Amino acid sequence: MSTEEKIKKTEKKRLSRRKIILLIVAGVVALMTAAEFVRSNYYIETENIVYKSENVPEGFDGAKIVQVSDYHNHGGSYDDRLIEKITEQRPDYIFLTGDIADSIQTDIDDAKSFLKKVSKITDCYLVWGNHDYDISDEQREEMAQCCEENGIIVLENEFTVIERGGDKMLLVGTVSGMDSGFVGEMLEDYPEEKLFTVWLHHYPEDFYEIAETSEAAGSRADLIFAGHAHGGLIRLPYILYGLCAPGQGFFPEYTSGVYQYGSTRMIVSRGVGNSGYTKRFLDPFHLVVCTLESQSED
Ligand SMILES: [Fe+2]
Repeated sequence: MSTEEKIKKTEKKRLSRRKIILLIVAGVVALMTAAEFVRSNYYIETENIVYKSENVPEGFDGAKIVQVSDYHNHGGSYDDRLIEKITEQRPDYIFLTGDIADSIQTDIDDAKSFLKKVSKITDCYLVWGNHDYDISDEQREEMAQCCEENGIIVLENEFTVIERGGDKMLLVGTVSGMDSGFVGEMLEDYPEEKLFTVWLHHYPEDFYEIAETSEAAGSRADLIFAGHAHGGLIRLPYILYGLCAPGQGFFPEYTSGVYQYGSTRMIVSRGVGNSGYTKRFLDPFHLVVCTLESQSED
């Protein structure tokens, strides 16, 4: 074999080795992407959050809240895993922050079945989300009836007082924008003393409005629980905290975790279901567990 032929043969070998390496790398990337896609649409991540404030009444010190948001008619064997995850937290209260139903896949039997199961765990409080309003009136009536039969308190622009250890906390549930004037109406019946106040509100983009409107109206909003953004659907750690979210558009501000504005804090759940046929990536289902602590922040 001539020298030239030898060089050609070596070059060929090198090229085919490069091809193999490239194929392996592409295969590994494809596998990892597929695995992450499955994880994001299957796994339920639990996030423990401690809400520490001197405004928390002593009677509520250590109270544990599980927030379940954006269930979207999920159903199937998923319910067993979700109910087990919630139960093992042994929560004092469960806050359901909207979109239990789905307005694209509108069979609400799964939503009703979930409501029945979750109501057996502990006291449940619920606000409706946009999908719950976009199903038919009959279906929402069915869901409301299911809540009533199973002792789930539905808050539609109203509040309730929760008592624990001799103390009181105000729980407000709002379902529409702050401009509808309901805050003023609601305040007419507000307790005279300014109680520690928790808000359930599906839409995180209303954060500033809730904080400012409630303060201007002589009320307060210490802690808000919201959902709706589904984590922004695609997340990349340290780079992208959500690609897009309804009501906030591209690169949304409020997608997951804790936010602060003045003395108001907001917790946003990425939700435990997918709306319609959407899927997530690097954005697993999100169960929020919030423990109240009655002491000032360090
Ligand atoms: Fe949703």
